[in-house]
Amino acid sequence: MKRILVTGGAGFIGSHICEKLLDEGNEVICLDNFFTGSKRNIIHLMDNPYFELVRHDIIVPYFAEVDEIYNFACPASPIHYQFNPIKTLKTSLMGSINMLGLAKRVKAKIMQASTSEVYGNPIIHPQTEDYWGNVNPIGPRSCYDEGKRAAETVFFDYHRQNGVKIKVIRIFNTYGPRMNANDGRVVSNFIVQALQNQPITIYGDGSQTRSFQYIDDLLNGVFSMMKTPNDFTGPVNIGNPYEFSIKQLAEKIIDMTNSKSKITYLDLPQDDPLQRKPNISLAKEKLNWTPKIHLEEGLKITIEYFDKLLKNNKL
Ligand SMILES: NC(=O)c1ccc[n+]([C@@H]2O[C@H](COP(=O)([O-])OP(=O)(O)OC[C@H]3O[C@@H](n4cnc5c(N)ncnc54)[C@H](O)[C@@H]3O)[C@@H](O)[C@H]2O)c1
Repeated sequence: MKRILVTGGAGFIGSHICEKLLDEGNEVICLDNFFTGSKRNIIHLMDNPYFELVRHDIIVPYFAEVDEIYNFACPASPIHYQFNPIKTLKTSLMGSINMLGLAKRVKAKIMQASTSEVYGNPIIHPQTEDYWGNVNPIGPRSCYDEGKRAAETVFFDYHRQNGVKIKVIRIFNTYGPRMNANDGRVVSNFIVQALQNQPITIYGDGSQTRSFQYIDDLLNGVFSMMKTPNDFTGPVNIGNPYEFSIKQLAEKIIDMTNSKSKITYLDLPQDDPLQRKPNISLAKEKLNWTPKIHLEEGLKITIEYFDKLLKNNKL
């Protein structure tokens, strides 16, 4: 049995990680400041004696004897990471330094949840890990993008300077049950709007493309990465290369929910990337990983999740 620390463990992705790690017989410490996470995401784990919930902010050092750390704490959607951009930057950078300091002290293996946002508004398609990105350093998204880039930097510096065992994954858009319905992310937005027969809001003309992976595919990538030999640090892209336009997504969700919603178009926010698609050759080669869940299959489960929340007045 390993003792594993999951930062951001009450969030969308973190809660699934906690659940899987417990299922595999590990002891889990879930650390969260509940900025965007919620107890509802982990309430079903609370009775498990091997699950410990700690209210803590990772910009403050934390100490525990652990074997592995999954560093997933950070608001992930523009509404939330722009609410207090300085705090976002602190969470990414100071939080990573604190967790790396802990990893160094207790010789734990540590994974960083990096992001496709490190590629910014990419000039190269699809994005490979050796592309350095096209990021605006002073824009409204920079607190997140540059924070995650700086976090990657300290991960690699701790690895080179102190021999810390690191695993860096660059996560592309992910969706599934336990996404926060109020954070403006496109899949949850569209589903909730469609289920309530409200207008579906598209920013821009809807021709911008995205690729989304279902949470279970991401989890397989996360755990495969953690198991790779120590000399493989990443960064490695974990995402679904299947690409479609935002308009196509809206139409599919309207269709799948039998909704009466109409599409309305709003202005595109500043620095919104027009296209984003992962090249996953490295993940295929090193992790023997490819995404398996089709968009419709994942959307069906996610629609059911939000439908249940709406029917129980729990949104
Ligand atoms: N969801 C995606 O599509 C996606 C894509 C790329 C990268 N990521 C990364 O994955 C991680 C998890 O994302 P998510 O989608 O689950 O978001 P989320 O907002 O649901 O989860 C983030 C969690 O971190 C917690 N948190 C935030 N700041 C904290 C702090 N200073 N101290 C302690 N806890 C803190 C929040 O309360 C929340 O529980 C993030 O690091 C995010 O950047 C997510």
